[in-house]
Amino acid sequence: MKKGKKLYEGKAKIIYATNDKNIVIQYFKDDATAFNNQKKTTIEGKGVLNNRISEHILSNLSQIGIENHLIKRLNMREQLIKLVEIIPVEFIIRNVATGSITKRLGIEDGTVLKEPLIEYCLKNDKLGDPLISEEHILAFDWATKIEIDKVKKMILRINDFMIGMFRGVGIKLIDFKLEFGRNKIDGKNEIILADEISPDTCRLWDSITDKKLDKDRFRKDLGDLIPAYTEVAKRLGILHEQSNISAVNVTKLSSIQRKKK
Ligand code: TMP
Ligand code: ASP
Repeated sequence: MKKGKKLYEGKAKIIYATNDKNIVIQYFKDDATAFNNQKKTTIEGKGVLNNRISEHILSNLSQIGIENHLIKRLNMREQLIKLVEIIPVEFIIRNVATGSITKRLGIEDGTVLKEPLIEYCLKNDKLGDPLISEEHILAFDWATKIEIDKVKKMILRINDFMIGMFRGVGIKLIDFKLEFGRNKIDGKNEIILADEISPDTCRLWDSITDKKLDKDRFRKDLGDLIPAYTEVAKRLGILHEQSNISAVNVTKLSSIQRKKK
């Protein structure tokens, strides 16, 4: 598969064309942003870890029948994915209240929710990804009722699966963000899971200590983001226990990979 021109650059990833119009390359950058770009930095090695962790989770989801855009991981920073038309909605799933919901509604941080709560945000950086309702999605044709119902069903299955997967390795899945897209199959639009699932897009707390193992380490200036993401990867069995993915190692590995190409 030949890498073509850059089609789109987001805050954490770049999409490149390939010689197949239905397939693109998703490149994971080291850039970290929070609060809609108000806070930014570069954290060496973050893209490599997110690429591996997202590959692991999306492959596992495929095995339980959750269709998604991942075809295969190509190298340390890139994946081959199906090109989809992204639904311009960020779907947030919460099992425990923390982050924006605690500030917005005055809910005590750490409140365990009776049921998973789904929230919708418009995917629009300029507007700061505002919270919207299902009625807004329908009113402005961002998705149809059938699509929303399908997405909600998929979300609940994904949440159940991921809660179990993380629980098995001593991690609580607090909340996360998903994106979905339309993929044309035989002239018909199918809704599939897209984007990434990684510690950038989930809140993950150690089951015993509540230590944060996700992007809150950057959002809240807690430091040690790479060791936290590495810990998640090791617990999921992606990296060997002994391997110490320091930022330096990750950079070395990526440059070896680049030279190989
Ligand atoms: P929030 O508490 O800031 O609304 O975030 C809820 C979850 O969604 C959290 O796991 C982080 C994730 N998220 C993203 O991945 N991207 C975003 O743009 C936002 C706002 C949240
Ligand atoms: N992804 C969003 C940003 O980069 C928000 C966040 O993750 O906190 O600003």
